[in-house]
Amino acid sequence: MQVNSFSNNHNGSSKSLFEVEVQAPANIALIKYWGKKGPQLPLNANCSLNLNQCFTTTKIKLIANANLAKSDQKVSIDYQFYNYKGELESSPHPRLLAFLENAKKDFPWMNQYTLQISSHNNFPHAAGIASSASAFAALALGLCLMELKLRPELDWTYEQIFQEASKLARTGSGSACRSLMSGLAVWGEHPLLSSPDKSSNEFAISHFKEKLEDTQHFFHQLMNVVLIVNTQKKSISSSIGHNSMQGHDFLENRLVPAQQHFTHLYESILSNNWINFGQIVEQEACSLHALMLTARPPYCLMHAHTLEIMQRIWLERSENKLPIYFTLDAGANVHLLYLKSDEARVKNFIENDIAEFLVEQKWIFNQTGMAPHFQWQRKDL
Ligand code: DP6
Repeated sequence: MQVNSFSNNHNGSSKSLFEVEVQAPANIALIKYWGKKGPQLPLNANCSLNLNQCFTTTKIKLIANANLAKSDQKVSIDYQFYNYKGELESSPHPRLLAFLENAKKDFPWMNQYTLQISSHNNFPHAAGIASSASAFAALALGLCLMELKLRPELDWTYEQIFQEASKLARTGSGSACRSLMSGLAVWGEHPLLSSPDKSSNEFAISHFKEKLEDTQHFFHQLMNVVLIVNTQKKSISSSIGHNSMQGHDFLENRLVPAQQHFTHLYESILSNNWINFGQIVEQEACSLHALMLTARPPYCLMHAHTLEIMQRIWLERSENKLPIYFTLDAGANVHLLYLKSDEARVKNFIENDIAEFLVEQKWIFNQTGMAPHFQWQRKDL
């Protein structure tokens, strides 16, 4: 792998071939991917919703570089990553380099160009929202679009482009494959969805996207607010967490209920039952953290304020009948789920009962379920 910086590679011998800009959202899992097998395949069917205010924007340019020998087997990249403040960050993560090397197996043309990649997140990395999902999703979609430009005979449909991108994004980070799909993004085989166009271990599939437009369905109104409890780097990475499921005492006790949670969640959407939906989502989040507490060695990613907020949500629901639910990622932050029609009450609840537990009193409101998008910047053959 050859890594250059934008600034010192402008030597006049290069020519921009294609340029694409892609925006891909982060997602929040409702049924969690926890534990993997083989080439980053999930142990259980899982699903998520995209978050429209937390996204990565990635620009990729292909530069036909006269200095690059065609036989050169290394991927040549110019890479820049900007954080949400627009500041340039350090060199590319080894995981990203490994991802690109792997992508080259499917896209041999990557040997013949310098890939100029510039990427930025609009949300703080430290907010604890998985930025790897949006980052790998954006990069994978950009590469697939380049593949299609260079090999138009592939004649992919719009759906195929996203499916190929989802497959590729998965190799970077499992949950990234879901960020490419709108509606309920489902990843992993499930008996309820037994035909290959309904569920797959290889890529995520969109379900219920039509419900986003259905004013009678709760999906149309479903909102998320990320309550930022802790901005410290996680003490245990997701990769270590996935590994901790190997030989976990409760592995069998995870896989069966996880598939059941999936079934019940799916049915709650079919029957437009927001309350059942919320209850399953909470149960699933608590199961995830219980698995961490019972791992060997045990660990805990919740913070005292996470527990305080969970209890206040339960209290608000039982005493004031506000139908709000939460989910948790592998971290301390709380994702509150609510319906748009309750927004004024939810804002009041956060300001009066929750804000004191949040870092710098921060929270991020998101609509859920939308797809990534892209645009060609220039064609300069
Ligand atoms: C708890 O997708 O971050 O957020 O495949 O190793 O990159 P890798 O893991 P990652 O795991 C996400 C775990 C989770 C649950 C979920 O998003 O489904």
